[in-house]
Amino acid sequence: MAIGDKYRAVHRRSLEDPEGFWAEQAAPIDWSKPWDKVLDASQAPFYRWFAGAELNTCYNALDRHVQRGRGEQAALIYDSPLTNRKKSFTYRALRDQVAKLAGAIAALGVVKGDRVIIYMPMIPEAVMAMLACARLGAIHSVVFGGFAANELATRIDDCMPKLVLTASCGIEPGRIVKYKPLLDLAITLAKHKVERCIVLQRWQEPASLVKGRDLDWNEAVAAAEPRGCVPVKATDPLYILYTSGTTGQPKGVVRDNGGYCVALAWSMQYLYGVNPGEVWWCASDVGWVVGHSYIVYGPLIHGATTILYEGKPVGTPDAGAFWRVISEHKATALFTAPTAFRAIKKEDPEGGLLKQYDLSKFRTLFLAGERGDPPTIEWAQKLLGVPIVDHWWQTETGWAICGNFVGLESMPIKLGSCSVPAPGWQIDVLDEQGQRITKPGEVGAIAAKLPLPPGTLPTLWNADERFKQAYLADYPGYYKTGDAGFIDQDGYVSVMTRVDDVINVAGHRLSTGQIEEVLGSHNDVAECAVIGVADELKGQVPLGFLVLKAGVTRPPEETVREVVQLVRDRIGPVAFFKNAVIVPRLPKTRSGKILRGTMQKIADGQPWNMPATIDDPAAIDDITGGLKTAGYAEKA
Ligand code: COA
Ligand code: AMP
Repeated sequence: MAIGDKYRAVHRRSLEDPEGFWAEQAAPIDWSKPWDKVLDASQAPFYRWFAGAELNTCYNALDRHVQRGRGEQAALIYDSPLTNRKKSFTYRALRDQVAKLAGAIAALGVVKGDRVIIYMPMIPEAVMAMLACARLGAIHSVVFGGFAANELATRIDDCMPKLVLTASCGIEPGRIVKYKPLLDLAITLAKHKVERCIVLQRWQEPASLVKGRDLDWNEAVAAAEPRGCVPVKATDPLYILYTSGTTGQPKGVVRDNGGYCVALAWSMQYLYGVNPGEVWWCASDVGWVVGHSYIVYGPLIHGATTILYEGKPVGTPDAGAFWRVISEHKATALFTAPTAFRAIKKEDPEGGLLKQYDLSKFRTLFLAGERGDPPTIEWAQKLLGVPIVDHWWQTETGWAICGNFVGLESMPIKLGSCSVPAPGWQIDVLDEQGQRITKPGEVGAIAAKLPLPPGTLPTLWNADERFKQAYLADYPGYYKTGDAGFIDQDGYVSVMTRVDDVINVAGHRLSTGQIEEVLGSHNDVAECAVIGVADELKGQVPLGFLVLKAGVTRPPEETVREVVQLVRDRIGPVAFFKNAVIVPRLPKTRSGKILRGTMQKIADGQPWNMPATIDDPAAIDDITGGLKTAGYAEKA
């Protein structure tokens, strides 16, 4: 057999016989009721996997492993250089604590189908909270700790939770993030009234509780009776995870139970090449999809040990932190974002800190969240001497669209490419007319043929029409990924850029439109635009351009300072919005469309052409001048 034959045979089979293929892959999952139909296409384009089946995702992640002899194996290792704490939980201990927490949640009247928001830092209780909801069949929605109260309020109004689970604070290097006041403010801002909150008090910043509404976590759990797993439909939602849309209204990506369990079990074995019983580390955050799939559900469903790391790649305490964690816990693989490796490379370019640690168990590094830039991949490759796998996916997809399936067959790695499509993914590159591009290497919009495989979004929460409009309307029969790139002669996919107004900051997805909405709400601002400018460490950072209202006479720095603060207050520190440039006008087409692409090229110092459709070419000089005044002289 030639290299790639094994992968190609699996991929081909998954497309030719999707029902047969996925029925086989469903075998590692425990179902309390078998499915009637593997793929229900009766409501297309709303596809449902494993229709009629029932299961419980928490049972698959915990209870069954205890029943089958993994009770004393570590399920979760919490390693927190930010608090100097480490703690290991066996499968039995985690199951017992989750069952008690589920009891506390149920005691507040939460039942199957109710929504629960989780706004928590990277502590074991956050994982327990997710699993406890899954245990009851309640739908959780985790909100990343770096979002501000306003973002939390938007999510409260969209999914209308019965309960919020939170901790008194999060810990960032050099600063405590007080979650509780943010939650209190969010509850005030939201139209939907949250009836109950359970608050975990961290000693670093205990919070005051609202009488009659807030319960102390430890007291609630101590008083609770453990709860068993409630069977749910395979097609019932396990969670809602919000991601940036084109406006301030985020999209609530829905994830089902059955298809997700199957896809995660498959990917742990065949994409990540991890065996049950081995230690696996995903250095992301439970607030992101990567954290949902590969800190929490994937490794636990697979019977592996997962590491929960409350720290950073650098500064906690140094750029050897990742090597320390891998070596201390004997991790076989790590999954993180390229930006984390750029941060390590910047601090320790020779990788000298690695020499202190034994990485003999470490087999593979997986990168995703943004394009794996070749210099970073080459650096990591040279330093670690293991395969560095770039793989591509999105909040919507729940698991990888493309990757190198090292547990099935390692394919040659091509720098700059995220390798080949996962089973069930038929990827095409389309031209502006929506026609398939057959010439290898030609760039176009990347789209996936419907139906998408199990684990991917069946719809958006309470927004079927928006789901169709956002993803399915542009290219009939396809899911629009929003990314552009090309496929080479060997079928390798390269993802180059977004085609919409989404930018990628340190592996975090942000909408420039959403930041523009905030800037536009400032009193001094007549018009604005936000672009993502290239950044050596974070990949991209947002930069604002402001046209001030006539008659504004305040010093421009004041306005800039205020809009920067406004974005931090409304969206959160995660937006990493640090600067804005004041310009007399914005370059536009004759129909009034702001020429953000050209502005971005100028800011990045890339070659650019004067757009034929530009209304007034002199507006470009304003951009160049504004960038120079704001200290972007070299690039502009
Ligand atoms: N709660 C509150 N604030 C948070 C936060 C959280 N959970 N996470 C980040 N922030 C804050 C940071 O403190 C920072 O605030 P500042 O502007 O006051 O300094 C801001 O949000 C931006 O954070 P980030 O862009 O993450 O920068 P950083 O300096 O904290 O860390 C990296 C830089 C590269 C180490 C970090 O971004 C990283 O590890 N990224 C990997 C991302 C990832 O895992 N993505 C998931 C896909 S795999
Ligand atoms: P998110 O939904 O936050 O996970 O962001 C998904 C987006 O991140 C994708 O649509 C891509 O634009 C980008 N992305 C993720 N992984 C990769 C990758 N390996 N290569 C290129 N872009 C990526």
